Amino acid sequence: MASAKRILLIIGGGIAAYKCLELIRRLRERGHSVRAIMTKAAHQFVTPLSVGALTNERVLTDLFDLDDEREIGHIRLARDNDIIIVAPATADLLARMAGGHADDLATAVLLATKNPVLVAPAMNPAMWLNAATRRNVTQLQKDGIEFVGPAAGEMAERGEAGPGRLVEVPQLIAAIETVLDEGKEKGGLLAGRHVIVTSGPTHEPIDPIRYLANRSSGKQGFELAVAARDLGARVTLISGPVSLPEPHGVDIVRIKTAAEMLEAVRASLPADIAVFAAAVADWRVASPELEKIKKTEGKAAPALALIENTDILKSIAQPGPARPSLVIGFAAETQDVLAHAKKKLKSKRADWIIANDVSPSSGVMGGENNTVHVISAAGVESWPEMSKAKVARKIMERAATELHAKRTAAE
Ligand SMILES: Cc1cc2nc3c(=O)[nH]c(=O)nc-3n(C[C@H](O)[C@H](O)[C@H](O)COP(=O)(O)O)c2cc1C
Repeated sequence: MASAKRILLIIGGGIAAYKCLELIRRLRERGHSVRAIMTKAAHQFVTPLSVGALTNERVLTDLFDLDDEREIGHIRLARDNDIIIVAPATADLLARMAGGHADDLATAVLLATKNPVLVAPAMNPAMWLNAATRRNVTQLQKDGIEFVGPAAGEMAERGEAGPGRLVEVPQLIAAIETVLDEGKEKGGLLAGRHVIVTSGPTHEPIDPIRYLANRSSGKQGFELAVAARDLGARVTLISGPVSLPEPHGVDIVRIKTAAEMLEAVRASLPADIAVFAAAVADWRVASPELEKIKKTEGKAAPALALIENTDILKSIAQPGPARPSLVIGFAAETQDVLAHAKKKLKSKRADWIIANDVSPSSGVMGGENNTVHVISAAGVESWPEMSKAKVARKIMERAATELHAKRTAAE
C-alpha cells in the first residue's frame, strides 16, 4: 500500500459518478486525504453534500468562487496534491482536456497542474468509440495523461453493451497507487517480482548449417526486459538468436529452437509475470539431417516434412500451481489482427494478448516503433504508435497495476 497521499478528485457529469462515493471512502480508509472538484454537470448525479461529508472538505466547483488569499486559488489547487484523478471522465471533459480548455475549475486545474493525472473514462460505448473521442484519447496519452479503463460490459442504458464502463473501485485504487508509487520511486513498482520475457525468433534446424527462421529482431522483447528491470523486477530474458547488445542487470538465457525456449521457460519458473514476445516457430523439421544435405545434379529438391512445435504460451498459461499470476502473449498478425488476437486470448487462456500488425508495410519487424492493441477480458485498448521502449514501459506498468489490483482484491 502506498503511504498517505493528497488526492485531488475531479468528478465529471456521468452516470458513474455515484461510484466516486465508494472510491472516496476506500481511499480515505487507506490513509489518503481527498479533496473533490465537481463539474457543474456532476451535481446532477451526486450531491456536494455527500461528497463533502465523505471527503471532510468543502467541495469545489466554481473557478471564481475560490478565495486566493485565505484558501486555495486554482493554481494552488493544481499544485497542492500528489495526483489528480478524473473519475468519471466524461467524453466532454476528455475533449476539453485534449483541447487545452480552462473554462471551469476542473479544466483550469488540469491545465495548470504539473502533477500526475490519471483519468478513468465512463460513457456510452458509442461515445467512447466515436472518432472524436478516439482522437482526444490519443492526444491525451501523447500528452502523458494516464488512463485506467474503461471496462467493457453492460451499460446503464438498457440493452447496450461494449467498452465504456468506469472500472471498479479496487482497480481504480490500484491504478492510483501504481502511479503514486512510480512518482515516488521509479524503480519500485515491480520490486520483489520475477518477470520472464521471451524474445526474438527461433531457428529450427534443417541440417547442421541451414534453418527455418523469421524476421523478428527481438527489439520489443529486449525493451520489455529493460522496462521490467527498470521497475525493479528480477528479469529472466529468454532470447532466440538476435544481434542486440545484452541489457545489463537482466539474466539472459540464449536458446535456438522452440523446444529449447520452452525448456528454458519451464526452468525459470516460478514467476509473477511471463511475457511471451518471442516469434516462436510454429513448426520444425521433423527429422533434421545430421550432415549437410547435398545438392545432387538430377536429384529433386529435398521435401521438408514439418511437425508442430509445442505452443509455449498455451502450455504455460494453463491453470496450475506453476502458472505465473499474469501471462501475456503477443500476437503478430498480417491480417485481421484483432479477430485473431481475440481468438488467441481465449484458446491459449492468456490474461492479455498484445496484438500488432507485422505486415511488411507496417515496418514493425526490425523497426523502432510499434502500434499495439491490448486485448483482455475487459475488452480492447488500442494504443497510438510509439517507440518499442514506450510500449514496453506501458505494458510493464499496466502489468504492475494488475498485480497490485489482484493483491488489493485479495486483502
Ligand atoms: C442522464 C445522463 C447521463 C449521462 N452520462 C454520461 C456519461 O456516463 N458519460 C459522459 O461522458 N457523458 C454523460 N452525459 C453527458 C454529460 O453529462 C454532458 O456531456 C456534460 O456536459 C458533461 O459535463 P462535464 O464534462 O463538465 O462533467 C450524461 C448526460 C445525462 C443527461
